[in-house]
Formats: sequence, C-alpha cells, structure tokens
Amino acid sequence: MKLMSVHDIIVISLFIFSQFLRGLEDCRSGMYPPKGPTCKGNVTWYTVNLDLPPSERWTQVIKDKNTELITMVQTIKDLAKGFFDGKLVDLVDEELPLIVDTLPQPFSDEIKGIAAVSGIPLGEITLFNIFYEVFTVCTSIVAEDFNGNIYHGRNLDFGLFMGWDRQNKTWTLTEKLKPLVVNVNFQRDNKTVFKSTNFAGYVGMLTGIRPGEFSLTTNERFNLDGGYVGILEWIFGKRDGMWMGFLTRKVLENATSYEDAKGQLSLTKLLAPAYFILGGNRTGQGCVITRTRINTLDIWELYMKLGRWYVLETNYDHWEKPMIFDDRRTPAMKCMNQTTQANISLASIYDVLSTKPVLNKLTTYTSLMEVSTGSLESYIRDCPNPCTPW
Ligand SMILES: *[C@@H]1O[C@H](CO)[C@@H](O)[C@H](O)[C@H]1NC(C)=O
Ligand SMILES: *[C@@H]1O[C@H](CO)[C@@H](O)[C@H](O)[C@H]1NC(C)=O
Ligand SMILES: *[C@@H]1O[C@H](CO)[C@@H](O)[C@H](O)[C@H]1NC(C)=O
Ligand SMILES: *[C@@H]1O[C@H](CO)[C@@H](O)[C@H](O)[C@H]1NC(C)=O
Ligand SMILES: *[C@@H]1O[C@H](CO)[C@@H](O)[C@H](O)[C@H]1NC(C)=O
Ligand SMILES: *[C@@H]1O[C@H](CO)[C@@H](O)[C@H](O)[C@H]1NC(C)=O
Ligand SMILES: *[C@@H]1O[C@H](CO)[C@@H](O)[C@H](O)[C@H]1NC(C)=O
Repeated sequence: MKLMSVHDIIVISLFIFSQFLRGLEDCRSGMYPPKGPTCKGNVTWYTVNLDLPPSERWTQVIKDKNTELITMVQTIKDLAKGFFDGKLVDLVDEELPLIVDTLPQPFSDEIKGIAAVSGIPLGEITLFNIFYEVFTVCTSIVAEDFNGNIYHGRNLDFGLFMGWDRQNKTWTLTEKLKPLVVNVNFQRDNKTVFKSTNFAGYVGMLTGIRPGEFSLTTNERFNLDGGYVGILEWIFGKRDGMWMGFLTRKVLENATSYEDAKGQLSLTKLLAPAYFILGGNRTGQGCVITRTRINTLDIWELYMKLGRWYVLETNYDHWEKPMIFDDRRTPAMKCMNQTTQANISLASIYDVLSTKPVLNKLTTYTSLMEVSTGSLESYIRDCPNPCTPW
C-alpha cells in the first residue's frame, strides 16, 4: 500500500463527482437513539487514574487495545513508506524518540509508558501522537434551547488522503482508527475530573467535558503557516509554542470554569492554528475560538438577543465561505435551521450530524455532550454508499 497514485486520484475525483450528485440528502430525523447501518457501535469506557505516575496511567487501555494499536501504527508506517524511499520511517525510529524528552510532563512519561506496555517503538508512538495535530477535519456544534440548556455535538473526521481502499471505497486509516476509539473517565481521588472520547495511544484531547463546567472540541484550521511549520520548529529547537492536543488536555484537566478555559484557549501560544469549540452550562456560554499560532482572530459566541442560538464550525473561518468542494457547513446549518431552537436537543443534533455530507467516509465517531448533566456519549460511525469521501 502506498499513498495515492495518479490513477487513484482520477478514480477518486470521478467517485467524488458521482457521490456529490447522489450523496447530498435531506436532513435526517429520528436517528436517535443511534442504530442501523450508520452506527457501528457504542464506545467502551475506561478509567484513567491521575493519581498514578504518568507512565502507568494508560496500562489497562493499551493492554485491551494493543492489537488494534499495532495494526494502526503499521498502517501509518506503510503509508509513510511512500515518502522518501522509506527514509521517513528510519527517521521516525531514530530521531523521534529524542523528541519525547522535549515534550512537557505528564505527556512525555505517558507516551513512554504507552510505548513500554505496547512494545511499539517509542518513535512510532510519538509519531502517532503528532498525527492528530495536522490531519483532522470535523464538524462541531454548540446550541442552546429555549430553557438555556447548552448542547455540544461533534463529528470527528480523520484520515483524509491516508490511503484509499478501492474495493471497499473507504479510507484505510479511518477504518483502522475506529476500533481504537475509547471513552475515558479521568479521575483524581476516585472522583471524575473530566471525560473524553479518545484514540487509544493518544495522550492529547480532541473531545472532552468537565461535568458542570464546560465541554470542548477542536477542529483543524488549515493555513499556510500550518502545523508542519510549528512542528518542524519544535524539532529544531524553537519550543515556545504549545501542542494543540496538550493544551486541550491541560485545560480539561486543570481549568476550573468556562471563562478560565476560554482564556487559556485564547491566550496560549500554539504550534499550529486551530479552532476551539467550547460549551458551558449557562445561557450564552458557547463559542468558537479561531486561533493562529500566536493569537486569537475571533471569538464567535452564542447571543440570544441576535437570534444566534447555535454556533457551528467545520474547517473554515466562519466569516469566510467554505471551499465549494468541501462544504459541510451549509448542509449542517440548513438542518440546524430546519430543526429550530424549539426542538434542539442531543437527539436532534445527532440527526444533523447523521446527514450526508456532514456524515461522510472520514467520520470516525460522533460525540454528544451536555455540561449540566455531565453526559458524554459517543458512537462509532459508518457511511454506507452512496456517501461522499469527505
Ligand atoms: C449501545 O448501548 C445501548 C444502551 O447501553 C444499547 O441499547 C444499544 O443496543 C447499544 N448499541 C449498539 C450498536 O451496540
Ligand atoms: C473490505 O471490507 C470487508 C468487509 O468489511 C473486509 O473483510 C475486508 O478486509 C476489507 N478490505 C480491505 C482491503 O480492507
Ligand atoms: C479509591 O477507591 C479504592 C477502592 O475502590 C480505594 O482502595 C482507594 O483507597 C481509593 N483512593 C482514594 C485516593 O480515595
Ligand atoms: C451548571 O452545572 C452545575 C453542575 O451540574 C449545576 O449545579 C448548576 O446549576 C448549573 N448551572 C446552570 C445555570 O444551569
Ligand atoms: C494539572 O495540574 C497538576 C497540578 O498542578 C499538574 O501536576 C498536572 O501536570 C497538570 N496537568 C496537565 C495536563 O498539565
Ligand atoms: C440559517 O439561519 C441563519 C440565521 O438566520 C442564516 O444566517 C443562515 O444563512 C441560514 N443558513 C442556511 C444554510 O439556511
Ligand atoms: C424534534 O426532534 C426529534 C429528534 O430528532 C425528531 O424525531 C422530531 O421529529 C422533531 N420534531 C419536530 C416537530 O420537528
């Protein structure tokens, strides 16, 4: 298996074209509780004890998911062999272990612990942890109902251009990631501090909730001054920015309120641009923070007086038009508008997130969160044909 050949690109282009003609559909309804061909299953819960030394925290998760993790890392390596005659893989095995020691705690020790338990070389686990900084495309929504209840939903779409399985018409990496999805309850003193939906082996956070305080998701923000630049700078010794997934983990673990989280997410220097989508449990507490590496371009907030009862982010700045060949925003907004504030709930958000192309071939999982009840539920997704590749 290699990255894509010209032939693949032509085949995919034709496929996309045909799917776009057929893959756009009317807003779904009555999809919740999740079942049927678009739901591959529930996500298993694990507890991670923050009172343990970092190197021991992930032992149970990794023991359970080791076979899947090994398959996944092998898939990434096979894909990477397409680059530079396989020199990239040598580089990963030789150079990346050195990077681990430059990562802040507790991440450095957690990654080392995961490598030790799984038997996977340290450099490869490190690569797996860096991966999410640069390759996620997603949809996140925060909405408020008439009673001031805040709901937060997201689709995590991952694996774009990471190998196309012609026979099954699926993304190779996306399929390999689905069995790695776990829900984690992070505890101190036997009490829940926060909860997340994660990929086993990854120590950062893409989706999480602090019950009673806030919920948080991140979406990739593509930009010329993107993730690669910051990561290369880190490798070459300029280390003043923070890894996106580490910041979100730190915020979920240690921020104590919606406002505190918003401040940290807006002000911390980052390695890569990003969108942070934050929900609270009081009226008006929901926003999309648009970040460059250095500063915050915009904070777009719920605002009932202006009739802004939801904010919705895909992978484009909300004041710009999305790219025409990757417009998940318009269909998602159309369905939110059709739902209306009167009928918004976790169930109706699940409906929106189940409508193609918001649901697509890259969609790995859907998460639904409600801060006031502290609930986080996630479902592994599938998008049977006809379905758009993203
Ligand atoms: C998921 O869990 C719910 C409740 O625990 C159960 O009713 C449902 O059948 C499960 N769904 C799948 C696809 O396993
Ligand atoms: C295609 O899907 C089938 C059924 O899910 C699976 O058994 C097979 O391994 C898949 N093919 C590849 C190349 O992954
Ligand atoms: C957590 O609970 C376990 C038993 O469930 C107990 O042995 C342990 O002492 C508790 N730890 C703390 C920090 O309270
Ligand atoms: C926010 O959540 C906490 C904890 O669940 C709850 O006690 C509080 O009443 C909530 N606040 C509002 C305004 O809903
Ligand atoms: C959260 O704060 C504790 C106590 O200060 C610290 O030990 C821990 O490393 C912090 N967590 C993160 C992810 O930074
Ligand atoms: C949804 O409603 C908002 C607010 O009224 C409006 O600005 C937007 O254009 C609508 N979008 C779609 C796709 O219907
Ligand atoms: C309200 O939302 C639920 C859940 O998605 C849906 O089944 C129902 O049809 C909606 N009701 C109306 C009146 O739109």
